[in-house]
Formats: sequence, C-alpha cells, structure tokens
Amino acid sequence: MHAVGIVAAAGSGLRLGADRPKALVPLADRPLVCWAVDTLRDGGVADVVVAVPGDELSAFATVLPLDVRLVVGGSTRTASVRAALAAVGTGVDAVLVHDAARPLTPPDLVVRVLEALSAGARAVVPVLPVVDTTVVVDDDGGVADTVDRSVLRRVQTPQGFARDALVDAYAWLPPDAELTDDAAVVRAAGVPVATVAGDERGAKVTVPHDLALAELQVSR
Ligand code: CTP
Ligand code: MG
Repeated sequence: MHAVGIVAAAGSGLRLGADRPKALVPLADRPLVCWAVDTLRDGGVADVVVAVPGDELSAFATVLPLDVRLVVGGSTRTASVRAALAAVGTGVDAVLVHDAARPLTPPDLVVRVLEALSAGARAVVPVLPVVDTTVVVDDDGGVADTVDRSVLRRVQTPQGFARDALVDAYAWLPPDAELTDDAAVVRAAGVPVATVAGDERGAKVTVPHDLALAELQVSR
C-alpha cells in the first residue's frame, strides 16, 4: 500500500503564545514539525507533504529534510489540509493526516492506522477514553447534565484515509467550511470512520503547560 503523509503545520499557535509559529517551536532543541515528520517516517510513511504558513516557507525548508514537500497552508486547518491534499499525486492508496502539534506520537500508532486501512477501513482515527466526569453546562455556567462518558472518545492524529475517500470528501465540502479534523470531513460526506487505540504520548501541544510536559517526557 502506497501511503502519503500530510502534516498540518500552518497554524500560528496563538494559545501557545510563542515568538514563532507553533510548528517551529523547539522541543529538546528540535522544531515540533520535525518530530511529527519523524513519527510518520518511522511508522513507514516516507512520502510527506507539510502545510506551512505562507510567510515562513524558508524557515521550514531550513529545518526539514530536503525530500519533504512543502505547500502553503490556509487560514484554517481545513484549508491547510485541502492545500496539502492537492499536492498528493494519483497512484496513492492512502493518506495519513497528522498534526505538527503532536510531537511525541509513537510510530506504532502510525502502524496501527496503516493496518486498519490495509484491512479495508476507508477512514480510521486513533482514540482514547474520556477519564474525567463530563458535563453539559447552560449559558450561565451551571451544570445542566452529566454525559455518559463510556461512549465518548478523544480523537488524535494521524488519521488515515483511503485516498479517494478523502479527496472526494474535500471536493464535496464547501470551500469555506471549517471542521476541527479530517474524520469529520469524510464523515460529513457519508464515509464510516473506524477507530484504533490512541496513545497518551500523542497529546497535542496547545498551551505552554503541554510543552512543559513534553519537555519532561523527552528528558527522562
Ligand atoms: N493548522 C494548520 N493550518 C491552520 C491552523 C492550524 O495547518 N490554519 C495546524 C496547526 O499547525 C497544528 C494543527 O493544525 O499542527 C492543530 O491545530 P492547533 O493545535 O489549533 O494549532 P494552531 O492553530 O497553530 O494553534 P492555535 O489554535 O492556538 O492558534
Ligand atoms: Mg488552531
């Protein structure tokens, strides 16, 4: 199976609040985007396209391996993945979409996603259970309801797709639509989405505390 990886790295990282785009922020002296590319490659996906901010092309080209393809992303994650997907050629069986913001995702998660696709899934996402009591609040912040968390899952990346399912779903999606992940795009287009076990180490770096935790993990 020929799989291509897409790394969404075109965000600005407002919540992290660093002095550069989040994907260029170092973890143990290496930009987050380099860790994310390594995860895909170590998991068996050699061909990688990275969506980057338009004004930072040269900064990304400097830190990434020469054989990684760079495309200019968009103003939303959905637009960035759409742009990267346009650079994925034909003759490709599967596409794995990963966040640059998940530097410590272990490669065996990539392997699990690839195995599910090989077994026939058209779309697959890594998931983890919800461990905290989860509630619905009203407009005033009061608790309106408690949700049955046993049916809830937290969704990670890389998310895997049959190439034509992902391409067709993005072609069907209105140009300005904004969804938080790619499984939501294919599901909206009617494709069933399977799950595999996620991994806590694949947590997303969103706020400064997440980066501090990641630094602790790599320093052990
Ligand atoms: N992303 C992207 N293009 C965008 C926005 C986000 O490629 N226009 C990518 C980010 O680079 C990140 C991933 O999508 O790797 C997940 O998004 P998120 O964690 O929200 O990152 P940012 O959008 O950069 O952060 P923030 O929302 O705090 O600004
Ligand atoms: Mg964002």
